[in-house]
Formats: sequence, C-alpha cells, structure tokens
Amino acid sequence: MNYATVPDIKTALPGPKAAAAIAADKDFISSSYTRGYPFVMARGTGVVAEDIDGNVFLDMTAGIAVNATGHSHPRIVQAISEAASRFTHMSGTDFYYPVQAQLARMISERTRGGPHRVFFCNSGAEANEGAMKLARWYTKRPYLISFRGAFHGRTYGAMSLGCSKAIHRNHYAPLVPSVIHANYPYSYRAAPHLDTPEKVAQDALDYFDNVIFKREVQAEEVAAIFVEPVQGEGGYVVPPANFLPGLRALCDKHGILLVLDEVQSGMGRTGKFWAHEHFGIEADIITSAKGIASGLPLGAVIAKKDIMTWPPGSHASTFGGNPIACAAAVETIKLLDEGLTANAAGVGEYMKMRLDEWAKGSPVAGEVRGMGLMLGVEIVKSKQGKERDAELRNTIELTAFARGLLILGCGENNIRFCPSLVLSKEEADKAVSLFAAAVEDARKQLGRG
Ligand SMILES: Cc1ncc(COP(=O)(O)O)c(C=O)c1O
Repeated sequence: MNYATVPDIKTALPGPKAAAAIAADKDFISSSYTRGYPFVMARGTGVVAEDIDGNVFLDMTAGIAVNATGHSHPRIVQAISEAASRFTHMSGTDFYYPVQAQLARMISERTRGGPHRVFFCNSGAEANEGAMKLARWYTKRPYLISFRGAFHGRTYGAMSLGCSKAIHRNHYAPLVPSVIHANYPYSYRAAPHLDTPEKVAQDALDYFDNVIFKREVQAEEVAAIFVEPVQGEGGYVVPPANFLPGLRALCDKHGILLVLDEVQSGMGRTGKFWAHEHFGIEADIITSAKGIASGLPLGAVIAKKDIMTWPPGSHASTFGGNPIACAAAVETIKLLDEGLTANAAGVGEYMKMRLDEWAKGSPVAGEVRGMGLMLGVEIVKSKQGKERDAELRNTIELTAFARGLLILGCGENNIRFCPSLVLSKEEADKAVSLFAAAVEDARKQLGRG
C-alpha cells in the first residue's frame, strides 16, 4: 500500500463502519479492555495504519511497542507464509523443529554473558512467570523483589510482581506471596534533597540494605530481583546510569539472580538489541516478548546456560515457540541487524531532540525522556509545580486521534511514542508537529489554552 497523504482523515471519527464494529465489540468482547479512542484497524504498512473506513493514521504505537519491523513488512509476511505452508504447529515441548534452536542461538549470540538457553512461551506475562519459576527453582529461595511502578503482566505471578496501578489487582487477592517492592529511581519526581540522578539511584539502592534486608527479609532468602531496564507502563522512566550496575553488584554480593524484563524495552527498541546494554551490565535471566516476532505471539525466557538446567517436565508450554512465530522472529532479528536497531538509535535521538525543542515552548511539557524509539512525555499542570495532569494527557490522546496521530498513554500522566523501528526522520517530524498541535487542541478544549 502506498499512501499519498499521511495522515488522511476522510470521515467523522469514528466512521460508520468503525462505529458498527465498536457496537458489535461492546456486545461480545470483555469489558476489561482499555480503549482510549475508537480506532478500528483494517490494514497497515510501516508506520501507517488505515482504519476500516479508509482513514489513514500515523501510528506511534506499533500495537503497544510490538510491530518492530512495521505493519506487515514484506519479509515478515513472506517468512510467516512460508513457515505456515510447511506446518503450523507441532509443539516444541514434545517434538523438535530446527527453527526454535536457530532462534535461540541468534538471541544468545546477541546477548552478553553467554552461552544461554531459551525457554519459549507466548507472551510477556508468561515469560515472567517462567522466570519466577526458574529463579526459585535454581536458587531454592522463596522471595522475589520488584519495583514500584513496574509492570510485568496480568497473570498471577506477573501481576504480583507488578506495582503500577491498583486496578490491575482490584479484587484479585490473594496474590502470590513473598514478593516485596522497592523504589525505582525516578529522577524527575525525586525528593528535593536527591538533587542529582546519581543520588536518586543510590537512595533506591540503599533501600535494599537499610530497609528490605534489615526489616523484611534476609538477602539469603531472596531468589531474584526483577527490573525493567527502562520502566514502561510506569511512565517510560529511564534510570540513572549507576542504578543497574548498582543492582548487579547487590545481586552478586548476595547470590541473588538479576532478572531483566526487556519485554517492552528489548529487541532494538532503545537503539541496542537489549536496553541493558546501555548500562554495561549482564543479566542472569532476561524476559522478552512484544517486538520479538513483529506481532506474532511469542515470549522468551533467556537464561545463562548453567541456570537453565531444570529437568524435563519442570516447565513447558503447548503453543510456546510456535514455528510460525519463531520464523517471524528469525526474520525480525535479521532486519534489526540489517539496520532497524541503528535506525531506532538515530531516528530516536532525532525525535527526542525535536520533542525537547517543542517542550521548551510548552507549559505542560514536564519532561521528555527515553532512549531510541522508546520516548515519553510527562504532561503536567505547570513546569514548576510538576502536578500530574492525567485529564490533559487523556484529552491529548483524543485530539491526536482526531488529527490522524495514534499515540498511547503510560503511567498516570505520560504520553509514549513507541513506533515501529522503521520510522524515518520525516515521519518523526510529522509526528512531533501533529502531537504539538494536538496538545494545543486539548488545552483549548479544557479551557487551559
Ligand atoms: C515490561 C513489560 N513486561 C511484561 C509485559 C506483559 O506482556 P504481555 O502483555 O505480552 O503479557 C508488558 C506489557 O506491556 C511489559 O511492558
């Protein structure tokens, strides 16, 4: 598909077909989903998404940071159809097919601290469930530590690790026990006496020795610390440079496994294969999903080889490592290597610079932050007071949609840009201009202009 004009909004939104689709959806689909605006997908190419009424949008969501290679990249479509024409399923749990090992090897070769072994599953939550089980199995220790603001998925274990929104847990207790939460270093919102990013990180690290290991659990009882190298749902929070190395040292000191949840930040998104490479550390276990297979459901637990030694029967999945998803992932990694990771770094830096320029002139731009094409903007009532403005953030999503720009929120008051890694500088320019205009529309709509 080639689109002469992007975006191109031809009908009132939602259009007639979209309105009918949404009505049908309302009758039959779970009420738990959180659709911010009425976009009904028909087809897409690159960072362009068309709805079922023929309206054309610039997509800065990539289906929640998933379509790493853009919508329906021809090489991904070819890899999928070739794999599907051979066989669609045989269960890697009970049988062999070479593409699983091929993919595991490709991942290991691009991951520090190898050799590794990989367990394939179907989602980010499942990958974190697998990592929780592996960490407890390997260390024979019961406790797990994760962070406030973290999101690790919706299943019981992953939900128990998570700590970003109370609604995620409402009426679901009892949760998985023996999970403790620590503070993620969030420089923009740190206490005034923590006046450098290094101090913010050190304070978060000191909390382990001063509070957790002193008052809640002895370090020798902790199996693993789970951490997102860049916090995603929590608000696209990039930790200070000394935080992850500090956590690594803490884990080494106490024999605790460091589990990096790279579900959102991995697979080239931040301009490196894994986000933790920016911080110069190695993980004991990494969890991955989202971008790994350009939109097909696939998750992975990647562990150092001497850790993933659990015996046959101790963990498995019927669908995990589906051959079509694995073929899509192999092709995704080839495309990342051939330039998409580098593109995420280059265009991401450019887009951040453009957003920073806009932020200087906007009274509601609290902070622009992120790495590569994982970029967030904190929306506030005033720059000085930093009061979170969730209402304005939500309205911006709607006004952007009306202008033909698809964006998503994260955290309480942040907008995230997590487009496909094929984004060009021209498209980034267009996205920033549309976003800037949408912010002004929203301010006017709420009488704040
Ligand atoms: C960091 C992180 N971990 C885990 C998950 C859960 O992934 P899934 O929705 O595939 O279960 C997400 C999803 O947003 C995520 O951002």
